[in-house]
Amino acid sequence: MIRQIPPIDKEQLIAGLKRLKLKHIRGIPNDVNEIAMAEEAGYLDFLGYLVNYEVNGRDQTLENKNLQLAKFPNIKTINSFDFNFQNSVSQQVIHDLSRLDFINNHENIIFLGPPGVGKSHLAIGLGFEAIKAGYKVRFYSFGDLIDDLYSSLVDGTVRKKVRTILRHDLIIIDEVGYQAMNQIASDHFFQLISNAYETRSLIITSNLDFAEWGTLFASSSIAAAVLDRLLHHAHVFPLKGESYRIRSRMIPLTK
Ligand SMILES: Nc1ncnc2c1ncn2[C@@H]1O[C@H](COP(=O)(O)OP(=O)(O)OP(=O)(O)O)[C@@H](O)[C@H]1O
Ligand SMILES: [Mg+2]
Repeated sequence: MIRQIPPIDKEQLIAGLKRLKLKHIRGIPNDVNEIAMAEEAGYLDFLGYLVNYEVNGRDQTLENKNLQLAKFPNIKTINSFDFNFQNSVSQQVIHDLSRLDFINNHENIIFLGPPGVGKSHLAIGLGFEAIKAGYKVRFYSFGDLIDDLYSSLVDGTVRKKVRTILRHDLIIIDEVGYQAMNQIASDHFFQLISNAYETRSLIITSNLDFAEWGTLFASSSIAAAVLDRLLHHAHVFPLKGESYRIRSRMIPLTK
């Protein structure tokens, strides 16, 4: 009788795994025998194990790549946020938002408040959750975003740049308000916001109340048009309190 499963030729196996681009399984061929014997798993279970191994490896690679592309200035997590210190935002509401329905629904999140109250931390924390769930995220400080759009003005590629930014599922724009915009920057920002409207999700942080946003734009009509679109489907969190950065100075010294 002709055997259908001949003994494996190791080189041929590696070449086959390479051709099928099964990079993660390719990393463990020497362990496979050991794992199979130790686990005493059924053949189908073992095949499932190998497939899962490859799938999980690919998910991890993609997550790492997406994390790099997101360009977070640092990693902050929702779990490391102290909701006792910052109690003007509900832990439950933020945990609900971490389920990320807002991304599928193309809703925006806006964190307002003075320096150090946790706006960027929460924005990055939610962005990080989105990366873990497989979404594409891009973090911009407002200044960098405006510079980026401005630099594409020279070769007439602003529209293309806006389209590239909008390829992400979630765009975080941090620190809106620390820098005012001239006419061109206001137009660019409007272009981005109006194209993102009802098609993408934005998380925006700002030290300014909406009433003060008029001062940021070249005209109050652009400010109104931007706010109208941003706020139509938005979760707004006005954060209050002292800066977390200087909290240690507020703790009374004990003997
Ligand atoms: N409630 C909190 N729990 C844990 N860490 C916090 C909390 N609030 C702020 N922090 C930490 O304090 C620092 C400042 O917070 P963050 O950068 O989020 O402030 P911000 O509101 O964005 O301020 P700014 O307007 O100056 O940018 C960060 O290192 C952040 O991780
Ligand atoms: Mg900040």
